[in-house]
Amino acid sequence: MSTSLQGKHIILGITGGIAAYKSVVLLRLLVKAGADVQVVITPNGKEFITPVTLSALSGKPVVSEFFTANSGEWHSHVDLGLWADAMVVAPATASSIAKMANGVADNMLITTYLSAKAPVFVAPAMDLDMMAHPSTTRNIELLRSYGNHIIEPAAGELASHLVGKGRMEEPENIVAVLESFFAKSESLSGRRILITAGPTIERIDPVRYISNFSSGKMGYAIAEEAAARGAEVTLVSGPVDLRPRHSRIRLVKVESAIEMLRACEEAFPACDTAIMSAAVADYAPSEPYTCKIKRERDGVDSIALRKNPDIAATLGAIKTPGQRLVGFALETDNAIDNGAEKLARKHLDMIVVNSLADSGAGFGTDTNKVTLLFADGRPAEAFSLKSKADVAKDILDAVERL
Ligand code: CTP
Repeated sequence: MSTSLQGKHIILGITGGIAAYKSVVLLRLLVKAGADVQVVITPNGKEFITPVTLSALSGKPVVSEFFTANSGEWHSHVDLGLWADAMVVAPATASSIAKMANGVADNMLITTYLSAKAPVFVAPAMDLDMMAHPSTTRNIELLRSYGNHIIEPAAGELASHLVGKGRMEEPENIVAVLESFFAKSESLSGRRILITAGPTIERIDPVRYISNFSSGKMGYAIAEEAAARGAEVTLVSGPVDLRPRHSRIRLVKVESAIEMLRACEEAFPACDTAIMSAAVADYAPSEPYTCKIKRERDGVDSIALRKNPDIAATLGAIKTPGQRLVGFALETDNAIDNGAEKLARKHLDMIVVNSLADSGAGFGTDTNKVTLLFADGRPAEAFSLKSKADVAKDILDAVERL
């Protein structure tokens, strides 16, 4: 049977929980699906399952310590991190999740996690009270915010005989998650995508500017997801506190709308698709001061503004029949009507409408709630409130269908 896991390098991280016995089945299934698996186990994990079983099944010595005691051979977590196409931590105990979330690098599994360039999947397993504790919830949210994939624990009878949420997802389902991930990882292969993100800032003088509250999170999430699906991404970003993780993302940093326009005009002709998620400042000071404005000396009581170029509309005017252009509309009222108007006016193929009236949607949050409108007359698609990483998936699924 050929699967998308064929030949993939997988690090299987095992931590110290009862569910470690299921990791043996998981390892068997991964190897059966054609994956090349390297097991990394925590010192506690070895209390639950022996390295002998794991090395026999994976065909490789199990890595657990920073070096081999008798030979002194150093195990490089950096090399492992680079080797992997994916890392799966299953089971992930509350303690290991906390260490991963906070960078407590006191064992080989955590250092490997911190060095991993590849996507990381985490399958929590613990008692229901630990699972429900705010500290666990917060740590899992932190992992999600790093772009890690959480394979939610199932509800059922736990080792403690309590019944609730905390049981590690069944190995068959973990393998299915990985298979669908790798199957998807090819879906945008060979495609070039231009993405704008973040705010632009327009200088008033050397110390002041006009801008907006955009955090860039939505655009960066789309860039990560597009790269994970195999696309070559050019991310033109205004000033934000984020940095891209995927090696297929080329970051072009800009400050103003004019700089963003130039970067887009340069990149767009070689791209198949452009996704304009930046919150471009509509106006800029017409004549920025070259020296700091002094309150007493200059007595400024107004700043003359000029209109910034509309980057999406500029690309809409030059796009070729083979190119697709996607815009965003963040609205406070009449969201769908305003979105539809922008879709037509800017010659977009699709527009992602979100409304500040929906709590959890819009600037700065880690979640968003969007409706997609299409130029070709197909019906609008409305989605529920989701993490921005999941919204990015919905947007790219729709882009793939354009
Ligand atoms: N956009 C752009 N360049 C601009 C303004 C907007 O590329 N100067 C893009 C945004 O990235 C987004 C879409 O156009 O994809 C809509 O942005 P928005 O600010 O909602 O639209 P505006 O045309 O500025 O309309 P509004 O009057 O609502 O601000």
